[in-house]
Amino acid sequence: MGSPEIAIFPMTPADLDGVMEVERRSFLTPWSREAFQSELMQTYTLYLVAREGRKVVAHGGMHVVWEDSHVTNIAVLPEYRGRGLGEHMMRELLLRAVQRGANRMTLEVRATNTPAQTLYRKLGFITQPGAVRKGYYQDTGEDAIIMWKDPLVDNGAAESC
Ligand SMILES: CC(C)(COP(=O)(O)OP(=O)(O)OC[C@H]1O[C@@H](n2cnc3c(N)ncnc32)[C@H](O)[C@@H]1OP(=O)(O)O)[C@@H](O)C(=O)NCCC(=O)NCCS
Repeated sequence: MGSPEIAIFPMTPADLDGVMEVERRSFLTPWSREAFQSELMQTYTLYLVAREGRKVVAHGGMHVVWEDSHVTNIAVLPEYRGRGLGEHMMRELLLRAVQRGANRMTLEVRATNTPAQTLYRKLGFITQPGAVRKGYYQDTGEDAIIMWKDPLVDNGAAESC
């Protein structure tokens, strides 16, 4: 039997064991289960998981308030990286942000996180010199680079995903 396909779904509380595993293996300071539980209860949030069968292999999420969307989290299990899954997750967030009425997206990324910055640039995110939050990451004191994509919708045509 072949391995099950990977597909993206809205995150539910039943995904949180898998999500915590992805978090622990992706970040120096993972989010807590309570942080995800709280995010899932808000109406302005949207969280997704990628599942291979029943196994959570990636997640991502954002806040959408009127025209503004803000990516809060994205991570892929280490052994599933480099096969297009992070990009698929980001494209899904972009599409769903537009569907909710957003026309801008922003995010913060560690100054040293080349894989993530390259992914965001590939999808049209830009930054400017000085668009930095000094010492934003409390665990290392590292700066955050602010990136944005504005507009998300060009000439009335939705972002092609
Ligand atoms: C950032 C992350 C989500 C990317 O996920 P991924 O599934 O490995 O990425 P993809 O395979 O979809 O790659 C898409 C694009 O991202 C960029 N990219 C991905 N990995 C890269 C790497 N190691 N070095 C440079 N660019 C990379 C490339 O532009 C790539 O496109 P290409 O294949 O045409 O070159 C993943 O590395 C991750 O989970 N990192 C740990 C958590 C994290 O840092 N999250 C971001 C917080 S801001």
